[in-house]
Amino acid sequence: MRTPVILITGAGGEIGHGLIARLAGIGRPIVTIDIAPLEPALARSVRREFTGSITDKWILERVLAEFEVDLIFHLAALLSTRSEFTPITAHEVNVEGTLRLLEFAQHEGESHGRRVVFMYPSSIAAYGLPDLATKLRAGSVHEDEWNTPRTMYGCNKLYCEHVGRYYARHYKQLAADTTRRVDFRCLRFPGLISAVTVPSGGTSDYASEMMHAAARGEPYACFVRPDTRIPFMTMPDAIEALLRLAEAPCERLTRTAYNLAAFNPTAEEICKVATTAFPGAKVSWRVDVKRQAIVDSWPVSVDDGAARGDWGFAPLHDFARAFEEYLVPTIRERYR
Ligand code: SER
Repeated sequence: MRTPVILITGAGGEIGHGLIARLAGIGRPIVTIDIAPLEPALARSVRREFTGSITDKWILERVLAEFEVDLIFHLAALLSTRSEFTPITAHEVNVEGTLRLLEFAQHEGESHGRRVVFMYPSSIAAYGLPDLATKLRAGSVHEDEWNTPRTMYGCNKLYCEHVGRYYARHYKQLAADTTRRVDFRCLRFPGLISAVTVPSGGTSDYASEMMHAAARGEPYACFVRPDTRIPFMTMPDAIEALLRLAEAPCERLTRTAYNLAAFNPTAEEICKVATTAFPGAKVSWRVDVKRQAIVDSWPVSVDDGAARGDWGFAPLHDFARAFEEYLVPTIRERYR
């Protein structure tokens, strides 16, 4: 017989770190796939670790043969900045990898006869506002507005939101006897800030990089203008949102992709908090016009009414609490 487990792809990344720690507390066995071996502290919380690419079909075959999966957190992806240097690889990992995982989920469901909840982190990168003036005028955007991303990563995420919805609602609709086994649920995350890990390859990374550099007493040259404003959220709130949506009753869900909002400071506001909390911090501004253009295409704020109404999304951290109660004390402790 196969062992019932939760599958996490991209488990060694920032979200994976927080998620594994949180799930290990609940005691459900976890199987992971990541391109690199997990850190020993994470690996200890995991039943079985597969090292390799999600585009390697043999890894998924082995998971299917050995494990009964009814919940997947598909976190593996190349983020927005990195994807612009290698768009073909980004497409392979972000789109083809996701397609393979969706097909894997359908096969898992067919093998045990239940629906597989497929949790998928999408992103504010799925939006693309044409210029800064339009962004400022648009204000808080609804899920179905401005779906014209300007990055490969954003295109990949938006497309996979649709393919996930297809698997959940219309998969093989013309076949005589298909039972759809994928319960696809997607969160459009804002920029995420963790106190315990630093992101790599994203375009919202400046917020985390600034805080962590400040705590280490290292100078930081911020690559966006001080007045740049996009939505952010703390990693613990992101993890709770993933778990809460995963557990929500199916009949409450009116959409397959949900916006989430928590707070949306300017880069300058983040800088003020960082330099107040860590007086040795030295932040300067060296705008990278290309990365700036990407951030300027992301909304100032998102409308998360559907998430709040359908499944009770309620982040703990607003701007003040995020920094006072979570980021500053935890980052300070980390570098002590
Ligand atoms: N944080 C991501 C990035 O910057 C956006 O989802 O790529």
